[in-house]
Amino acid sequence: MQTILVTGGCGFIGSNFIRWELETYPDLSIINVDKLTYAGNLENLADLTGNPRYTFAKGDICDRPFIDGLLASRQVDAIVNFAAESHVDRSILDSGPFIQTNIIGTQTLLDAARQAKLGRYLQVSTDEVYGSLGPTGLFTEETPIAPNSPYSASKASADLLVRAYCHTFGFPGIITRCSNNYGPYQFPEKLIPLFISNALADQALPVYGTGENIRDWIHVLDHCRGIDAALSHGQPGEVYNFGGHSELKNIDLTQKLLVALGKSPTLIRYVADRAGHDFRYAIDTSKATKELGWAPRVNFETGLKQTIEWYLGHRDWIDRIKSGAYRDYYQQQYGHRVTESK
Ligand code: NAD
Ligand code: DAU
Repeated sequence: MQTILVTGGCGFIGSNFIRWELETYPDLSIINVDKLTYAGNLENLADLTGNPRYTFAKGDICDRPFIDGLLASRQVDAIVNFAAESHVDRSILDSGPFIQTNIIGTQTLLDAARQAKLGRYLQVSTDEVYGSLGPTGLFTEETPIAPNSPYSASKASADLLVRAYCHTFGFPGIITRCSNNYGPYQFPEKLIPLFISNALADQALPVYGTGENIRDWIHVLDHCRGIDAALSHGQPGEVYNFGGHSELKNIDLTQKLLVALGKSPTLIRYVADRAGHDFRYAIDTSKATKELGWAPRVNFETGLKQTIEWYLGHRDWIDRIKSGAYRDYYQQQYGHRVTESK
């Protein structure tokens, strides 16, 4: 039986990945290491309670003795590192936790994996390390790294560490870089779940700047399949980009959400732009298709409809999150720039 140590598995993508892997591979075991920050939610994997192939270990990826202890206690075949501070706006408010978890945490995992002589390490990274595109063009794996936010700079730093460990030590590291994910269990600070939950509560939807910025949306399960393909068939030292081929202006996405929810466009509020806001992300996925046999499968319209239905069916999940510490963050991020509609 193979065992993967997944970090950050109580977050959005990690929880989808763990569930998908355990369903897809009956012989696989997963250890999930998560610090349970504001973004980590045990409820996201509550359905796995009692599953003998799933183990949860609460802890910090920066804690080397803790990681060493886990690697010594079980035969682990690979690490997949999702654990991160993941929200750009929070990195603008305070970059400290981003440097700590995203850079020091990655270095800690790399050293622990090297010492334990692990056969595989996959770093889950982001297209934001490439910076911003103008109206045309696509990011390829050869696009120079040019991060623009403290978040993306911390992710780029981690990628460079993985690259350096591969080059210097022959470390079996692989990096994947994906565009904007959407789907179930996404924390309601990111555009799609934030706007769905605000619209359901008849609260304003804060669109940054002109709303013309463009993101390339990919369903989270397409991303999970990509990570799985890179883990199984990727070459050590290589980078693989994933994207959804679904570019959309933020304002067009906002209008789609309002139509789907039967809410009025008067909920839209144009607010002060995000500092250093990247204009456009879009991905050339030809390397992943050619070398991993991967392509996105979920049609955006269908995926978005299913995602909206999921949030409609999980209002209690949103409510429980929004009643906690998230309220303080919301006030700090939006308090001075949004006038609520009620
Ligand atoms: P998320 O914020 O939903 O989840 C992050 C998880 O990491 C949480 O469960 C949190 O508790 C855990 N964590 C944070 N610090 C930790 C630490 N020091 N030790 C252990 N656990 C810790 O994030 P997400 O959106 O699921 O993103 C997961 C990964 O994918 C991140 O590395 C992110 O950079 C990358 N990524 C995200 C997207 C996206 O669109 N969301 C796209 C591309 C890449
Ligand atoms: O591209 C991959 C990245 O996608 C990941 O690496 C990040 O972890 C993930 O958070 C996401 O980053 P973005 O900054 O693109 O996602 P976010 O949902 O925060 O914003 C999407 C777009 O919507 C962006 O142009 C900013 C805009 N926006 C966002 C929020 C939260 C608004 O207009 N209003 C908002 O309130």
